[in-house]
Amino acid sequence: MKKIIVTVITTLVVLAVLFTAYIYSGMYDVSQLTPHNGLTKWMIRTTKHKSINSRLKDIQVPALNDTANFVEGFEHYNEMCVMCHGAPGIEPMEMAKGLYPRPPKFYKADDQPDPDESFWIIKNGIKMTSMPGYGPTHDDKKIWAITDFFLNKMSKMTPEEYQAWIKKYSEKSETPESKSSEVKEEGDKD
Ligand code: HEC
Repeated sequence: MKKIIVTVITTLVVLAVLFTAYIYSGMYDVSQLTPHNGLTKWMIRTTKHKSINSRLKDIQVPALNDTANFVEGFEHYNEMCVMCHGAPGIEPMEMAKGLYPRPPKFYKADDQPDPDESFWIIKNGIKMTSMPGYGPTHDDKKIWAITDFFLNKMSKMTPEEYQAWIKKYSEKSETPESKSSEVKEEGDKD
C-alpha cells in the first residue's frame, strides 16, 4: 500500500514539474490564428456544453415570439452584436474575422441554440472567447428581447427589411446629442 502511495505521489510531482516546464518553455502558441488541436477542441467544447447545461435549470423562459420584443431586441442587437455576429445582408466587421473561436453567424445557421441557452450565454458571456456577458449592463427583460429578436425575427428578415429597420429604429438613436452625452460621461470618469 505504502509503495502505491509513493508511486502515485511521485508520478503527480513529475507531471506537475513537466507541466510547469511546458508553461515556462514558451512552446504553447497563444496566437488567435493557430487553431486548437483535436484534444483541446474536445476539452473546450465538452466543458462549455456541460457547464452551460448544468446552469439552465432555474431559467424560466417567458412567452417568446412576441412582436413587442422584436423592436427592442433589434435596437440592442444592431448596436452590440452585429459587429461580431452579422445580420441579414451585413457581414461581421473585420475585427471579427481575426477572432478565434470565430463568432457564429446566426442568420445563416441551421442549428440555433435553444432560448434558455441563448439567454444564459448573452447574460454571462463565455470565458476565453470574445463573447461578452451583458448581465452587468442589461436586465433580464432586455436580454430576453434580444434573444427573441435574433432567434425568432432576424432569421426571417431579408437584407432589405433589416436595412429598413435600421432607418426606422436605429438611426434616430444616434443623434448628435446622444453622442456628445456619451463622450461627456466617459470624460467624467477620468
Ligand atoms: C466581440 C465579439 C462578440 C460580440 C460583440 C458578441 N458576441 Fe456572441 N459570440 C462571440 C463568439 C466568439 C462566440 C462563440 C463562442 C464559442 O465558440 O464558444 C459567441 C457566441 C454567442 C452565442 C452562442 C452561439 C451558439 O451557437 O452556441 C450567442 C447566443 C451569442 N454569442 C449571442 C450574442 C449576442 C445576442 C450579442 C449582442 C448582445 C453578442 N453575442 C455579441 C462573439 C461576440
